[in-house]
Amino acid sequence: MKTLDDLDVAGKKVLLRSDLNVPLDGDRITDDGRIRASVPTVNALLDKGAKVIVAAHLGRPKGEPDPKYSLAPVAERLGELLDVPVTFAADTVGESARAAVAAMPERSVVLLENVRFNAGETSKDDAARGAFADQLAALADVYVSDGFGAVHRKHASVYDIAKRLPSGAGLLIQAEVTVLKKLTEDVERPYAVVLGGSKVSDKLAVIANLLEKADSILVGGGMVFTFLKAQGFEVGRSLLEEDQIETVRGYLRRAAERGVEFVLPVDVVAATEFSASADHAVVPASQIPADRLGLDIGPESGKLFANKLATAKTVFWNGPMGVFEMEPYAGGTRAVAQGLIDSGAFTVVGGGDSAAAVRLLGFDEASFGHISTGGGASLEYLEGKTLPGLAVLEEGN
Ligand code: 3PG
Ligand code: MG
Repeated sequence: MKTLDDLDVAGKKVLLRSDLNVPLDGDRITDDGRIRASVPTVNALLDKGAKVIVAAHLGRPKGEPDPKYSLAPVAERLGELLDVPVTFAADTVGESARAAVAAMPERSVVLLENVRFNAGETSKDDAARGAFADQLAALADVYVSDGFGAVHRKHASVYDIAKRLPSGAGLLIQAEVTVLKKLTEDVERPYAVVLGGSKVSDKLAVIANLLEKADSILVGGGMVFTFLKAQGFEVGRSLLEEDQIETVRGYLRRAAERGVEFVLPVDVVAATEFSASADHAVVPASQIPADRLGLDIGPESGKLFANKLATAKTVFWNGPMGVFEMEPYAGGTRAVAQGLIDSGAFTVVGGGDSAAAVRLLGFDEASFGHISTGGGASLEYLEGKTLPGLAVLEEGN
């Protein structure tokens, strides 16, 4: 895979794909981690004398402009973080983009509007994606891929464009791949994995794969109720994926066969409603009342998880343990974050949500070994899947 050192970018226009898909509350950015993570590569390119045209997506608009998903707030934040101004183009490859690029002075940055405003970006049709990639490629001389969080997507600005311009990986992709490679090829044991988040169905492949690799798997978050149900407990009105219960039973059996320790919560914070002000109480995981829903793992579980992590040499964590955005249900996620820190292990936090969670809960990013900007991307990497955005860079161009 070519890196910045292998590319000749001096005096050239570089189309840089970054993952700037940050959580927004209206037009306020609630966690700018991905924007900050994109900065070193932008600066490195500027230092090499390039003009940098940044392409990125935000949310999942339907292939046409939608002001809700505008990258305008991101352009402003990026400008604050860089020491050069950022010109924001009001479209992706249209008049505004072409004019902004044509007017670029030396050492300057243009951010294009959300590439998903163009249906070609995410199209399943190779020709439609290719046509959009042609238009993006026409803006620049060189392509640098650095949007690690999107490399599992076969999208025009992630995949097809790399076949059209001299291409290489940016600093963030290099750093992310180095860490994930270590986890898959050269992991120091015991290797503990903590999985949370709401849906089991999103995590099936990674669980199946980690069952063959990890020494212990700790489960929390919304998906844990399908595990509890598979063990024969009633889960009240908690999130439940009925159609996954059998699969989950299979995992528990496979774990037992392989001697992989599966750790489930022993207590749960159960509320009358999905709301911070709802009546809530800690109950045993085996006795969730029929009219309540579990919104976090309980304090005993937090201690149990931290104890299990204390003996690990490597920990990978993806997915919050509860609805951490609401203070009454943040304890489990906080306990796991602290458990990672106290373990002294090499710790990797994967996933937009868990990465945002550790920052929003006030933890110092430097206390963790690595905080990945990729959620789906890091999981698919650990599943052993081929990620289109990385494979195309390996092929080289
Ligand atoms: C993410 O947030 O996981 C990445 O930015 C990719 O976004 P997507 O899941 O909408 O493709
Ligand atoms: Mg996602």
